[in-house]
Amino acid sequence: MSNVFRELAEGGSIFRNEDAFAPEYLPEAILGRESEVKELAFALRPISENRRPQSVVVYGPPGTGKTCSVRHVLAQLTDYTSRCFPIYLNCWNYPSRVSVLCKVAEEIGMFVPRRGVAVDEIWAEIVSVLKQAKKVPVVVLDEADVVAGDEQGIFYDFLRMRENEGIDVGVMAITNRGDVLAQLDTRIRSSFLQSFMEFKRYTPAQLKEIVKERAREGLRAGAYSEEVIGMCSAFGAKNGGDARIALNLLWLAGRNAEKEGREEITTEDVDSVKGRVLESMKNDRITELEDLDRHIVEFIKKAGSAGVGTREIYDEIGKNERTVRLHLGKLESMGLIEVASSGEGGRNRVFRFRT
Ligand SMILES: Nc1ncnc2c1ncn2[C@@H]1O[C@H](COP(=O)(O)OP(=O)(O)OP(=O)(O)O)[C@@H](O)[C@H]1O
Ligand SMILES: [Mg+2]
Repeated sequence: MSNVFRELAEGGSIFRNEDAFAPEYLPEAILGRESEVKELAFALRPISENRRPQSVVVYGPPGTGKTCSVRHVLAQLTDYTSRCFPIYLNCWNYPSRVSVLCKVAEEIGMFVPRRGVAVDEIWAEIVSVLKQAKKVPVVVLDEADVVAGDEQGIFYDFLRMRENEGIDVGVMAITNRGDVLAQLDTRIRSSFLQSFMEFKRYTPAQLKEIVKERAREGLRAGAYSEEVIGMCSAFGAKNGGDARIALNLLWLAGRNAEKEGREEITTEDVDSVKGRVLESMKNDRITELEDLDRHIVEFIKKAGSAGVGTREIYDEIGKNERTVRLHLGKLESMGLIEVASSGEGGRNRVFRFRT
């Protein structure tokens, strides 16, 4: 009997391995981040010599390779030494102190009941498991800016694990915002201060290498041209030096060609999906936002291309200026809004939605 899925599977002539375009895919090579990878490795190296690793804050704009570089270094470390206990978690999924602790407990093999867990109890048990395991945990808190207010105590818990519990631990916090530490308590800040790593936007040349390599990993050899690679990397360069945008463009263009039963991605395929790449990127970010951010973005979006002044935004949101300013800064760095004019000598900046 003929089967539509079998036909699709056999007919595919664009992708060699479409998984290479999935968000969680870890590329075979991290290109253009050699010095950052080395620096991260340097911070963790003490683990292999029974010493305490350094904690690091990694920050930079979206799509600059923060997550994949850190994951790459963790994978290399576990390949090199069995003394490491890598624990990666994305704070969008674990935004509170107790949820982070439960996740860590689960990762190190503890049984965690779903309800009625006391933070102190979980903590005590994590400590005892880690002491027995004689391994150094490296806790990666990705999207760490999501952890707010009192929940930030979690950073302190881990950073002071050595002083308080005699356990060496490495903490890596990843964030879009370099200013995230400004909101942290001084005791947390001082533990992080030595290692602060900025990931800069990719240059067009770096993006080209990244896209080319991913095409090699994910597409069939004859399915793409230099021109297609160039268009995708240029698009990523234009939209914030963002590798995710460049790679998603190539991926969707590939799907478009495949859907139409062609064996090669054309420049028309690329052009036809540009709008969708930008649209889906913005939607992803908006759904990820906390309520306050979403409220601000939607208010600004409603104002259209003329934009809206900071003062009106304060009035609408009804929070203190400092809080709103921090959120505006974050939304701007995420590429969702932009400054339309500095207004009245910089005192009433006008923001508009970035289209
Ligand atoms: N240097 C690189 N080499 C190969 N692939 C890369 C590189 N940098 C980024 N990528 C790819 O680009 C995409 C985005 O990278 P990544 O998720 O690491 O960005 P990020 O800096 O963590 O972004 P965000 O702040 O939005 O979380 C991923 O698919 C990743 O595999
Ligand atoms: Mg990331």
